[in-house]
Amino acid sequence: MVFYKELINWYLQNNRDLPWRKTKNPYFIWLSEIMLQQTRVSQGLPYFLRFTEAFPTVFDLANAEEDTVLKLWQGLGYYSRARNLHYTAKYVANDLNGTFPSNYKDLLKLKGVGDYTASAIASICYNEPVAVVDGNVFRVLSRVFGVRTPINSTKGIKEFKELAQSLINEEQPGNYNQAIMDFGALHCKPQNPLCDACTFSSMCMAFSNNMVKDLPVKEKKLKVKKRYFNYLVIDTNDGRTVLEERKGKGIWQGLYQFPLIETKSSIDAHELVENSSFNEMNLNGAVIKRFNTKTIIHKLSHQHLYTQFWIVSIDSYKEANLKWEEVSEKPVPVLIEKFLNEFVVSSDQ
Ligand code: ADE
Repeated sequence: MVFYKELINWYLQNNRDLPWRKTKNPYFIWLSEIMLQQTRVSQGLPYFLRFTEAFPTVFDLANAEEDTVLKLWQGLGYYSRARNLHYTAKYVANDLNGTFPSNYKDLLKLKGVGDYTASAIASICYNEPVAVVDGNVFRVLSRVFGVRTPINSTKGIKEFKELAQSLINEEQPGNYNQAIMDFGALHCKPQNPLCDACTFSSMCMAFSNNMVKDLPVKEKKLKVKKRYFNYLVIDTNDGRTVLEERKGKGIWQGLYQFPLIETKSSIDAHELVENSSFNEMNLNGAVIKRFNTKTIIHKLSHQHLYTQFWIVSIDSYKEANLKWEEVSEKPVPVLIEKFLNEFVVSSDQ
């Protein structure tokens, strides 16, 4: 049995009808592959459609304001992807006259383009036989070939890349790469894979050794860090508030948020007004009310944010220069967006 033949056969009958499969334009392929990192196809698809409508060419994306790009990206997470995307669009538009590099090695030099994305673009757009390795590929290969090396170890990453590369079909590398990703997403799924109707069941090591549930192997995750966020939602009599841009390294760089006081544990209103950062803000005469009755736990990959929103009503406040009507124009993390949706509804009533 030849692995790629079976796989491509399966793909011809089962592939998903996706808009970026109707083109080999590297701008669209690059856009889709950046969006689909750490994101399921069903989640990424509407973003792809909105982006390509707003920015039909790399020049349109390059000429956009960063806030506009981040706003359209809002909800997809891992915002450094959006900033790198914008940076690379400007580089391709301005320094490369709008032409993307046409091979794996040069694609890899673009900011935000790693081994996975360079392999995907090179194989799909330029027929270069370079194998992609994403979560789907790890799963399919570990099961079919019985590889137990942890997929999040340096050794595992190298081993899987070499195995994937040895299996690729040199004639149709783009189809092969998309076939293995679709096969992992639709058939060889993480839970309840369709082993009983699988074209590989006679050669699948995991299936014959009853190890489907045990593969792929992942090394234990880092401990999740708990953080305690207190957002001060300033609300002045003339309908203004404060949003600040998150600067520096760390989560949500470039997005906007209410003034934040981070504490070592959850605090009550009394502890808030005693807090030194709170006092430095000179919110004299303000009335403070906790908005959420239960602490909101916002989960990111390596940290859980225990969050409280405090409504700080005050006659006037010098720093409050943003009208509430303008708040929705700012790109904000999903945590803030969810608060805004509830807050606006509750204040409309
Ligand atoms: N996931 C990311 N990119 C993909 C592609 N081109 N086809 C299928 N799944 C994918």
